Amino acid sequence: MSDALTTLEAARRRTFAIISHPDAGKTTLTEKLLLYSGAIHLAGSVKARRASRHATSDWMAIEKERGISVTSSVLQFEHKGLQCNLLDTPGHQDFGEDTYRTLVAADAAIMLLDNAKGVEPQTKKLFHVARLRRTPVVTLINKCDREGKDPLDLMSEVEQVLGIATVPLDWPIGSGKGFVGVYDRLDRKVHLFSPGRHGEEIVAEEVLDPDDPQLRERIGDSLHDKLREDLELLEAAGEPFDHERFLAGEQTPVFFGSAATNFGIGPFLDRFVTLAPPPGPRETRDGGVREANDPAFSAFVFKIQANMDPSHRDRLCFVRICSGRYEKGMKVRHARLDKELKLAMAHTLLGRDRVSVEEAYAGDIVGLVDTQHVLRIGDTVSTDRGPAFNGVPRFSPEIFATLHLADPLRRKQLVEGLTQLAEEGAVQIFFRRGQGALDPIVAVVGVLQLEVLQARLEAEYSVRIKVERLGFSHARWLDGIDDPVKAARAIVGTHVDDTDGHPVVLLRNDWELGVAERENPKVGFLTTSPLD
Ligand code: G4P
Repeated sequence: MSDALTTLEAARRRTFAIISHPDAGKTTLTEKLLLYSGAIHLAGSVKARRASRHATSDWMAIEKERGISVTSSVLQFEHKGLQCNLLDTPGHQDFGEDTYRTLVAADAAIMLLDNAKGVEPQTKKLFHVARLRRTPVVTLINKCDREGKDPLDLMSEVEQVLGIATVPLDWPIGSGKGFVGVYDRLDRKVHLFSPGRHGEEIVAEEVLDPDDPQLRERIGDSLHDKLREDLELLEAAGEPFDHERFLAGEQTPVFFGSAATNFGIGPFLDRFVTLAPPPGPRETRDGGVREANDPAFSAFVFKIQANMDPSHRDRLCFVRICSGRYEKGMKVRHARLDKELKLAMAHTLLGRDRVSVEEAYAGDIVGLVDTQHVLRIGDTVSTDRGPAFNGVPRFSPEIFATLHLADPLRRKQLVEGLTQLAEEGAVQIFFRRGQGALDPIVAVVGVLQLEVLQARLEAEYSVRIKVERLGFSHARWLDGIDDPVKAARAIVGTHVDDTDGHPVVLLRNDWELGVAERENPKVGFLTTSPLD
């Protein structure tokens, strides 16, 4: 059973994230998506925010200027009658496990590449996380106003490095300073752009037929001939676009543009919102699925921000709604604790202030105030006794450390603080076998997470610590072993347990990992924790 409004609202949602390496142009593109959707009329706050280059404050200027709902977790805008939820994936020094977890809440991703750099390390990591859930990925090759790699080389780099088929849905006309437009291969139309005021405004665009005699005049003989040749080559050599394969995460449509000059961004956004899927069925732990148009409300926690602001010393748990409608004051069941919760408050953040959300639908993100501290990453809440979602796995950390207490008498507070921070997903904790909770190994994905840990332990638990980095670089959850003690003897590396008691091996480098995998072909070395 479904009700018409929830079905309609869910169908109009497009919830997505941008995956990219720092400096590929994510901030610039985000702003241009707002510009082209009409949410802002003048771009330019990107420059303004450079003074304080920190992800959580990136959008404050826009929030203040426009009063639109921009949160540190999700940015909402409408385009062509569709409600777009762009999830914020922190980049730069903020890169951490939160960035990975955000992708679990997204239904699609834009993979943004710098045309001169191609597939960079952070993009690769994020792509692999998107692939875990077979999230459909649309590729946008940015900075075409600068000379970069050849478009065909870029596509084969994506195919080789990431192992996904590419299909260009548009094609650049000219390159670098001579980049004048794109050819839309689905509509078979040429879009030519005229430079505007440094990309602050929507640029003038002229749409021509490829056979229009004017085209040769406009772009000159050599670009015209090159476009013809390129298109013939693509028709002959490339595979056709297959929407099903795209939705299954097997094929990525490729677009070209320049977020700085806005060339190609309009056609890209128009196409992206039609390609990106609405919220679909979500898998539950009992092997079933929950449909987005199910009238019962359900959601899972993918991000927790605690004590963010001294004036709100509580926890804000960001949930991704999977079905039904959120209404203020509704009662929900907490699946893990089998307990009733009243969702008195849900918020989005507007700058420093919280704004109450009255209603929200599948695909939307809301921040629930968790005064009782009962929610953890991966928890499900729902109005029926229905689903417990598959949750959010922990991802293999790359930075490991041991902590030294300045005051040994504060060990209890340290354990309490660490437990809390691990529940929030701020850090992961591993225990050496036979040592209990003594001397745990703390692990993170991004180096800033360790600094945050140190600062928060001191501010919130009055615990001063010294962090000593350990020489591991991989954690792998062991799958298919009967006896962890025996496995520890057979498998090279340091053997530990995670907070749920899953056996994990910590390895120093790729070589050690290779040896462990080669010598134990029957053991699974998983990059994410099992979901149970
Ligand atoms: P990020 O969020 O992915 O880290 O990237 P961001 O948008 O901050 O862009 C990184 C740099 O790349 C910026 O330059 C930005 O202007 C530039 N950039 C973004 N898109 C394009 C594009 O389409 N073409 C060109 N040529 N450059 C682009 P910057 O030098 O760091 O800053 P600024 O001098 O622009 O202020």
